[in-house]
Formats: sequence, C-alpha cells, structure tokens
Amino acid sequence: MPEATANAERMEGLLAEFRRIRAFSEQLCEPLAIEDYGLQTTVEASPPKWHLAHVSWFYETFLLGPFLPGYRPFHPRFDHLFNSYYEQTGSGLWPRAERGLLSRPTVAEVYDYRHHVDTAMERLAAEAPAADWPTIAERFSIGLNHEQQHQELLITDIKRHFAHNPLRPAYRADLPCAPPSVPEPMRWQTFEGGLVEIGASGEGFAYDNERPRHRVYLEPFALADRPVTNGELLEFIADGGYANPALWLSDGWAEVQQRGWRCPLYWEQQDGEWSIMTLAGMRPLNPAEPACHLSYYEADAFATWAGKRLPTEIEWEHAAGNRPVTGNFLETGWLHPRPADEEPAGLRQLFGDVWEWTGSAYLGYPGYRAASGALGEYNGKFMCNQMILRGGSCASARDHLRASYRNFFYPHERWQFMGLRLAGDA
Ligand code: AVJ
Ligand code: FE
Repeated sequence: MPEATANAERMEGLLAEFRRIRAFSEQLCEPLAIEDYGLQTTVEASPPKWHLAHVSWFYETFLLGPFLPGYRPFHPRFDHLFNSYYEQTGSGLWPRAERGLLSRPTVAEVYDYRHHVDTAMERLAAEAPAADWPTIAERFSIGLNHEQQHQELLITDIKRHFAHNPLRPAYRADLPCAPPSVPEPMRWQTFEGGLVEIGASGEGFAYDNERPRHRVYLEPFALADRPVTNGELLEFIADGGYANPALWLSDGWAEVQQRGWRCPLYWEQQDGEWSIMTLAGMRPLNPAEPACHLSYYEADAFATWAGKRLPTEIEWEHAAGNRPVTGNFLETGWLHPRPADEEPAGLRQLFGDVWEWTGSAYLGYPGYRAASGALGEYNGKFMCNQMILRGGSCASARDHLRASYRNFFYPHERWQFMGLRLAGDA
C-alpha cells in the first residue's frame, strides 16, 4: 500500500474513534440537569461542564492551533479557563479550586465550543499537510485517550457532587444492581517469579509512563483470586480496624484522626444497617461486592490487619500477563462494582470493577524521560508522592485499558472507584 493511502486510512480510523468518543462524553451527561453542570463540591472533583470544555481545549491546544492552518480558537480566553495544569502553554492556569465558580460560559456555550472543535478536527484530518501526519496521529491518539480518562472522571466527579447533597440524588435511578449475597472465601494463586518483563511493548497506544518495557526480578509471590469485598471490610471495621493505630502507616493514621474516617467514602450507617451512596442513589450495602472508595492508607491498613500486603505493580502486571481485558467497565452500564462470578477458577476481576491499589510508588521506569514541552507535563511531573493503581474500574472505558496501564493518585484520595487485592509472599 502506498504510504499516502496508509496515512489516509489511519486518519480515517482516528476520526471514526473521535466521533464515537466525543458522542459518548455527551451521552454520559444526558442524565444531568442544567444545575448539575457547574457544580464543584470539592477541589479534586471538577464540574461536568469543565470536563466537557477541558477535553476540547486539549485538541485545540495540541492539534488545531499548531497544525490546522488558519485555525481560530472558539474564544480567546478559554485557554486560560480550561487548561488543567500545563504550565508551558503560556495561557496561565485558572485555579483548580475555582472551576465551580464560573457561570459563564453557559452549558449551551460549552456545547457550541465542543462542536466548533469537532468541525475543526474533521478539517484537520482532511487538510493537514502530509508531512505533519505522524505527529498529528500521535497527538490525536493522546487526545482520544485523554477524553476517555475524563469520561471516568466525569462519572466519579458526578458521584462525588451528588453524594454531597443530603437528598442523595440518583444520577440514573435505573442502574442494575446485584442482589445482596455472601462472598465466597478468597483463594490464592502462586507465582514463581524470576526475571520478568513489564511495560508497554511497541504496538498499540500506551502512555509514555508505561515505557520503556524492561526486565525486573521477582521473588515468588501469591495473589488473591479476587478483590477484597465489603463483607471483609465490615469484619475489619467490627474488629476496630479504624481505631487501632498499630495497623496504620503514620501518614494514614494522621488522616484517620484529622478526617474522622470510620469507614470508606460513601458508606453510611443508620440503626446498625450499612448503606452506600451509588450513582443510583443510596443502596443497602452488598457484602459480596468489591470494597470500593478506599484510600491507599485504608487499603494498606486492611492488608496489615489481614496479615498480608498489597501487591507491587510489577507483581500485578506479571500476573495479568496476556489475559484479555474483560470485566465490568463503563460500557457495561452498571457504574458500580459487581460481585465476583462464582464460576471460573483463577484470577477474577483483574480488569474493571475497582482500581487496585498497589504498594508501588508512581515513578518513571528505568530509562524514562518525559518529552520536552507542555505535553511532557501530561504524566511525568506527577512522579512524586503518588501511588500506582492497576486494572481499571466500572467507570473506565474498556478499550482504554491494558495490562501495562498505570493509574496514579495521592494516597489519601478515595473518590475514584478504588479497592484492593491482597498479596502475600509465597
Ligand atoms: C491519571 C487519572 C491521575 O486525573 O489528572 C486527565 C488523568 N491526565 N488529564 C488525572 C488525566 C490529564 C489523570 N490521572
Ligand atoms: Fe485532562
């Protein structure tokens, strides 16, 4: 195939993905009322309106401005409002804590902004000089994956905002729900370890922080066949886990005391009965579901209480190996973790349901160098004081994930769909 044809086909493929992902972001906002779009109840969770605009700003800043001849930004100041954290674009950053204080642009104007960017992206694919295509294709993929990351954040942030409201409103009252059941006991799978390889290999999209692929030596280890459940977390609570400093990391114990943690985020107890806030509103706690909305500190304290530990990200990725990425994702439409299937032996729920905290700090792999310029800020500058999570959640798009995918959050954060899987030394 001549190179020009191959390039044109790749561009057509990217454009098809673009149309699908853009439409899906808007679909996720359909259950919202206008009043919901501007809400920011806490600094880490952004208003839905801001997410919709920010992902558009990303294409504008890294593709349309540099590569579409004669492109006119939708609004000259939107770069200031909708730049999240890129210091090197020169636009200045509107404070994160004040994203919810902007009644303008209106929701309608933000949708107009999106459609302006949509049209320009179609033009870019048709008109960009062929010499720029390799760079455009690379940034295009990053833009698409970026919007998928924000689809997950849209969902987790909406949940956070709705949970702030004493009415505990439902984002969607019609979500499916598993009947309460008792979890089967955890089983263990052992691994020999030895010299293994982790990290993304050549083919397919991966973020820079998943590369380079490299060798690591692993001692033998064991991994639980499923994530820790709500039922198991109830045992931890009943045993005084949140009141026993001997189980906690020092920074974790400080959080427990300062924030008065007695249970995971979104858990509520009334007359001895536990219920949890979900995207369908309040529901009785199901002991069989994977425990969710735990900080790293709680995950670590639970593992200590259980006489186990968290897996390293290396162990996790080695165990995941070439397994297919199947499970409960955003597209499944539950927007909530589901109990493990009873059937299959072996590791269950590696992908989807809940992100699994690992005991690994978020650092660059051997040989990692962040790219120069603003796009190098995407992942590289956060490699300090955050911990790695693996596997994806019920709010992650399935085709956004892979075994080498590295998510990262600060150890006190709980509002993502975060849980844990135990590990032990074999
Ligand atoms: C990888 C989920 C920590 O939330 O800032 C969004 C994803 N990066 N826009 C984040 C991201 C740029 C990132 N996390
Ligand atoms: Fe972003």
